[in-house]
Amino acid sequence: MPHKIILDCDPGHDDAVALLLAHGSPEIDLLAVTTVVGNQTLEKVTRNALAIARVANITGIPFAAGCDRPLVRTIENAPDIHGDSGMDGPELPEPTLELDSRHAVDLIIDTVMGHEPNTVTLVPTAGLTNIAMAVRKEPRIAERVKEVVLMGGGYHVGNWSAVAEFNIKIDPEAAHIVFNEKWPLTMVGLDLTHQALATDEVAARITAVGTRPAKFVGELLEFFGEAYKDAQGFDFPPVHDPCAVAYVIDRSVMTTQRVPLDVELTGTLTLGMTVADFRAPAPADCNTSVAVDLDHQKFWDLVVDALQRIGEVEL
Ligand code: BDR
Ligand code: CA
Repeated sequence: MPHKIILDCDPGHDDAVALLLAHGSPEIDLLAVTTVVGNQTLEKVTRNALAIARVANITGIPFAAGCDRPLVRTIENAPDIHGDSGMDGPELPEPTLELDSRHAVDLIIDTVMGHEPNTVTLVPTAGLTNIAMAVRKEPRIAERVKEVVLMGGGYHVGNWSAVAEFNIKIDPEAAHIVFNEKWPLTMVGLDLTHQALATDEVAARITAVGTRPAKFVGELLEFFGEAYKDAQGFDFPPVHDPCAVAYVIDRSVMTTQRVPLDVELTGTLTLGMTVADFRAPAPADCNTSVAVDLDHQKFWDLVVDALQRIGEVEL
């Protein structure tokens, strides 16, 4: 049985790859796509999500827009990494898909409550505002969700401060709520995603697929690569968000370790840091894990395979 997921995202170059990986993988049943402010404004990331749907001919599943600001903090976006549109690089087609009329928070709740317990996985690849709001509005989703596999955080490195990662830092209060719920939670953080580099060889494999959606990904990665070179001195861009989807598809794509996790809310230098307590073996009731080592070859095989399955799409 394919894994049923809700992708909560802020496209975003790597969110786009996450969405295409989910759509093109037979192991995934994509139930809904929700958007939240993050890499760019809510309006822009939502438009980008719908543009990706057009590029890959994703139809028949609801897309809904969610929160346009964090719970407490003022909005921070990431134009240095994702450009003015939030997904600069390729030409973005005019969306044809209509947005679902529900708020993303309600779509998440309806979807989780409308499926059997323990069957729906949440895959957030953005700030955790929608997920925190959903579990506050309908607390029963905490025991009904199968698991949360999120891209965010890091246990030894940051990218939005010395110790905090973007998705957590932009809404640390929301992250605090999500990390402290009782659902099983895997943090696919920077420790892992900095291994998911789109090297020249990876770019060549994607180009070789030869379809319009693959060309779209190639152009996204080209812009993303330049941005990461300029902003953070990377030789090749780390393609964060599809790592979380890949872990749902195939557990063997990465190693993980069970460890208590929490989110720093008061530090003047450490706000938004995800703190992992490695001092002792995790206690029996520990429901959080971190991703540690990526199988780079297997990960990119999954992405290339998904693009091949998506095939050619006429615009
Ligand atoms: C995360 O931040 C966003 O810019 C990316 O889309 C990814 O989700 C990486 O820190
Ligand atoms: Ca993202």
